[in-house]
Amino acid sequence: MRLAEAAAVGRAYGASLLSFLVDGTPRPFSATFALTNRCNLRCEYCNYPYLNPKDLDFEQVDVILRRLQAMGVRRLGLAGGEPMLRKDFGHIIERGKELGFFVAVNTNLTLYERFSERLKSVDLVYTSLDGDADAHRAARGSKAYDGVLEAIVDLLQARIPVIAICVVTEHSVDQAEHLLQQAERMGFRVHFQPQCTDTTIVRGHVPDTVSNERWRAFWRGLLEQKKKGRPILSSTSYLRFLAEWGDFAVSAIYDATQKCAAGRGFLYIDPHGDAYACPYVKGKAEPINLLTNDWREAWNRQTPCTRCMVGPMLEFNLLFQRPMASALEAARSYW
Ligand SMILES: C[S@@+](CC[C@H](N)C(=O)[O-])C[C@H]1O[C@@H](n2cnc3c(N)ncnc32)[C@H](O)[C@@H]1O
Ligand code: SF4
Repeated sequence: MRLAEAAAVGRAYGASLLSFLVDGTPRPFSATFALTNRCNLRCEYCNYPYLNPKDLDFEQVDVILRRLQAMGVRRLGLAGGEPMLRKDFGHIIERGKELGFFVAVNTNLTLYERFSERLKSVDLVYTSLDGDADAHRAARGSKAYDGVLEAIVDLLQARIPVIAICVVTEHSVDQAEHLLQQAERMGFRVHFQPQCTDTTIVRGHVPDTVSNERWRAFWRGLLEQKKKGRPILSSTSYLRFLAEWGDFAVSAIYDATQKCAAGRGFLYIDPHGDAYACPYVKGKAEPINLLTNDWREAWNRQTPCTRCMVGPMLEFNLLFQRPMASALEAARSYW
């Protein structure tokens, strides 16, 4: 990341945090934009490929990017579905760069060999790795491992940092050591996230064959590995939080004593331009369409839940709830 962009993300986060603390006008510093629901895979825990496949066109995407930029967002996550399926994906990334965003992308990388040029301007790539080839295929399908490791090597050679996301399921609960050794050999880092259930964008459920104590032991184990300096991107606060989560079959709860930073500090936009405080509340809260509305004025500032173990949202939330520790660790991890 260039210094100017790092400084811009840091300043935007500072403004977001201040607005969160004083309950001021929402000022998200980060937005995740799912550019399409379409996908070439059918992972067992994901519902995107079964949602409406219609995408916005480039001009409409541009309207939304400019709106995000005007409202102070500086970190842009482009995701899906599988965003590499969009022919204009490279142009969207370049447009994001022209507008001054730090641009991260989530992709399964199975289409990288055919369309690698689409990622040439990106700042950071998140991909998915659920363990060794067998564990990965068990959760994500027979073609899901094809070309992924080769793509990671190529991206790293092009000096584009790569973070692998491992969804922790019955298939991957014993795969952490394999992934960490692979990450050490190849030069990427791993973010682990629990399988999230009970919302429109996901499917399946957490099996009762794995006990809550087994899941907690998994997160405690990762905390130990993180202390040893293994390449785990997930923050210490996040790992501690998950090591104490009560029931992994429940992804989110409403607790009136807690305030969630979703919508204030970060935002999610679906492939039709409908914005939600976070992806987890899609289907549970009314959207604000960003083609025609300003989030800051139109949002009712309420979330249906206030405490969750939804991977990326929990990390973002900790940046607001334990700002000193989490922001310092994030700064060290990314820069
Ligand atoms: C929705 S995918 C979109 C990007 C791309 N198609 C991919 O798979 O990397 C973004 C991330 O969410 C993860 N994911 C999907 N369903 C999930 C669930 N139920 N719980 C937790 N993470 C999930 C995926 O494994 C992936 O790492
Ligand atoms: S997790 Fe990613 S690759 Fe798998 S079905 Fe969902 S969008 Fe597609």
